[in-house]
Amino acid sequence: MKFKKQIALAAAVTVISSAFLAGCDENKKQTTPAESQSPTASVKSASDMKWWQKTVVYEAYPNSFKDTDGDGYGDLKGLTSELDHLKELGVGAVWITPFFESPMKDNGYDVADYRKVNPRYGTDEDLDNLFSEANKRGIKLVLDLVTNHTSEECEWFKESRSGKDNDKSDYYIWADPAEDGSAPNNWRSIFGGSAWTYDETRKQYYLHTFGDFQPDLNWANPKVRQEIYDVANYWADKGAGGFRLDAIPYIKKPAEMKNGEPDQEDGTVSIHTMTVNTDGILDYLHEFKDKVSKGRDIFTVGEANGVPASELNKWVGDNGVFDMIFSFDHENVQFTGGEVWSATKDWKLTELKKTFTDSQNAIKDNGWYPMYLENHDQPRSINHFLPEGADPVLGGKALATLLMTMRGTPFMYEGEEIGMTNVDWDNIDDYNDISSKNQYQVALDKGLSREEAIKCVQKYSRDNARTPMQWNTSENAGFTTGTPWLKTNSNYKTVNVETEKSDPDSVLNFYMRLKSLRANNSVFIDGSYEEKLADSEEIFSYVRANSKDKVQVLINFTGSEVSYDTSEIDMDAAPLISNYSETEVGKLKPYEAVVVELKH
Ligand code: NOJ
Repeated sequence: MKFKKQIALAAAVTVISSAFLAGCDENKKQTTPAESQSPTASVKSASDMKWWQKTVVYEAYPNSFKDTDGDGYGDLKGLTSELDHLKELGVGAVWITPFFESPMKDNGYDVADYRKVNPRYGTDEDLDNLFSEANKRGIKLVLDLVTNHTSEECEWFKESRSGKDNDKSDYYIWADPAEDGSAPNNWRSIFGGSAWTYDETRKQYYLHTFGDFQPDLNWANPKVRQEIYDVANYWADKGAGGFRLDAIPYIKKPAEMKNGEPDQEDGTVSIHTMTVNTDGILDYLHEFKDKVSKGRDIFTVGEANGVPASELNKWVGDNGVFDMIFSFDHENVQFTGGEVWSATKDWKLTELKKTFTDSQNAIKDNGWYPMYLENHDQPRSINHFLPEGADPVLGGKALATLLMTMRGTPFMYEGEEIGMTNVDWDNIDDYNDISSKNQYQVALDKGLSREEAIKCVQKYSRDNARTPMQWNTSENAGFTTGTPWLKTNSNYKTVNVETEKSDPDSVLNFYMRLKSLRANNSVFIDGSYEEKLADSEEIFSYVRANSKDKVQVLINFTGSEVSYDTSEIDMDAAPLISNYSETEVGKLKPYEAVVVELKH
């Protein structure tokens, strides 16, 4: 039964008690598929949508998730042991970052053997067991395909570098030195330094978009592409529910690899500028779709930094190549010069909101969006998107509301569900991440002091997201009985799964409520998206609507109280959720998030 508030309809401000808020998710009726579409309804109703559009995906970073053998690194058994936690969160798929054999110079994004489990994480049997236990709980496993590059330890590269005359000589991108023996051009790799490394045996340079230990595969070679499809099909046949495709916009290189206009004083240009989304890349990816995805009930999500909203239709949707692509626009809102941590500006909320709205508008009729605020390459969202000093519990819940109510599939990153935050280590030696070390050096080279350089690292280090998952109050947050590979965040005594489970006001329990809200209201799945209050620098607001329901999400991104217009709000219906125990419709308290029903 739908609860009606006994208040005067004209009242602009209504106080709702926490007792009501706690119960209202469950009281909300299930909406039924739309027979005809209202002007604002999105194209498909929930019943016609794919499983991966209706679920929540959870990203697990194996190194940091849970260690069961005391070696200080997480493992597959640890992931298996926590599947029930994920199930409770409403997770239907787990994206596991690479767990394949690797020298681990980039924590698995340097794959030596695409078909073998890294012994650090366990055995083939452990993986089979993970598949089977996940399956029992209705959870699919989504694998990370790193195919722009391999590790230098991959057998393909070992053979390729052994000379110019072997079966795999064209598996990678080789070029002769410039006349003076230097690198073939001025491209700079994403992890810093030249994108070319000289190989003594082959007497040529090989290209690497990332580290020198990550040689780029030559996708122009059909044999290489077939190897990649074979790997993907091998895992899809084993039951993978989907793939995340790493670093995908870099796979195609321009026919002529010329010098670029320098963007740094040292005369180099970022390889990103020179190779991102080279013409013809979509032909390769259509081939991937034909040879791997077609006919399978899996989803693909490309990590596609640099695809503008205007191009999204070529990448996703019926004529696209993937089901979804991760945009970086919202994550990079503060950067002024590429992704250089020491080149940032104060960003405005309107800029952040625009990144989401542009993507949503571009794919509103055809295409789907992977909603994410965190992953293993980004700082924690509470620190990233909220002002310094924001209350992490209120803030964590506010961002959770955004994650779970935006149109698209929510991708939740480990620890986000408990509101984990950045660390503030002031010694660069405490960091493990290769790009943190590089960015630290870049900052020093630019003339910043050590203190200033470490501040950049504290803000943007990828290790912020990679500290051990916080399970309980025991030593090392219950992540390991050994010495963790990366220090544990010192806030683990309060921010951890066990403590938050028993606290009704925790971020974790707020996620549980958001999960129920999504499960019981299909408008959060199939409803259209329309931004409201687009000019506001305080409130992020949007309407989700289908033929049955129309709701408005309002999130205060500031520490001040702000008011908003209530003329479209159904004052008879209580808010569906709020991160405060009492909410006044028409006003948002600091970092308040509320979802209200609209008249229709
Ligand atoms: C993107 C991955 O997410 C990141 O962790 C990795 O370092 C690079 N690609 C290189 O594979």
